[in-house]
Amino acid sequence: MVGGARRAHRHRGTPDRHHPDRRGRSDRTAPVAVEEPVTEYVFDAADGLAAEHHRYLADTLDPFTFDRLDRLGVRPGWRCLEVGGGGGTVAARLRELVGDTGSVVVTDLETGLLTSSPALRHDNVTVLRHDVRTEPLPADEFDLAHSRLVLGHLENREEVVAEVVGAVKPGGWVLFDEFETVIAPMVLEAPAPADAELFHRVVAAITEVVAAGGMNHRWGHEVYACLARAGTTDVHAEGAFRSCRGGGPAMMLHHVVSRRLEAALLREGLGTDELHRFREVVADPAFAATTYVLISTRARKC
Ligand SMILES: C[S@@+](CC[C@H](N)C(=O)[O-])C[C@H]1O[C@@H](n2cnc3c(N)ncnc32)[C@H](O)[C@@H]1O
Repeated sequence: MVGGARRAHRHRGTPDRHHPDRRGRSDRTAPVAVEEPVTEYVFDAADGLAAEHHRYLADTLDPFTFDRLDRLGVRPGWRCLEVGGGGGTVAARLRELVGDTGSVVVTDLETGLLTSSPALRHDNVTVLRHDVRTEPLPADEFDLAHSRLVLGHLENREEVVAEVVGAVKPGGWVLFDEFETVIAPMVLEAPAPADAELFHRVVAAITEVVAAGGMNHRWGHEVYACLARAGTTDVHAEGAFRSCRGGGPAMMLHHVVSRRLEAALLREGLGTDELHRFREVVADPAFAATTYVLISTRARKC
């Protein structure tokens, strides 16, 4: 539901497998009716395309994220939090890194893909249905909290950053991987100039639609100052993008997003024939473009 809004109520997260220890939770624990409307997540969870979308996200971004986790030094015994875990591949990687002696809590609004993932079927993995906009996290609990492509969509993202930082132990790490979508993907090679022009036009329309749904396209770099304001030190950001041929995961990400947002893209003035051609182009190995820029920002809680 693009651009839709609803009134949210603060309530406790629902554990789908095991409930995490909520000792020391912050003052956001009380069930309080929220009067301000909260922007709804732009993608409709019921459209049947979430699994495909998450697969392409994982195939595109996991190499960057896994490298960041490795370099951060996640190790056996750590207790980790993954916010908005989507298809669960990052949570599964965290489980590998922390081993049997650590633990992983992975949250999402929609937990179907997480609970059905064999890679997350471990006693020390907790899947939690949880709305990070409105529900509390336990305080001073985790060695690492990570989130990818979740907070940029949220109206109260600064408050959410503070809550996620609050969930980390003093000296623990927070890592946010976010798109900087003001930097548009660049066409590297196209079967025809018209295909390059169409690609740019559809991607710009997708950007407009997602912005209307509440996405902050500058969030990729704005996380840095936000983390610094949230009582952290050692803040460091680095970005990554690469080329991808048509049919590759980053191009098929555009394919599935154009289907999930089709109604809104038609309202933006695109034609069904243009969307059809766009999907042919991004699936064509003769086409190549850059991925979105992912900025990965980490900080240590004071
Ligand atoms: C773009 S997907 C990213 C998924 C995953 N983090 C990844 O990068 O592969 C955004 C995810 O955030 C979840 N999400 C959106 N709003 C949320 C909220 N308020 N609280 C928790 N999760 C949320 C969505 O259900 C979805 O799984």
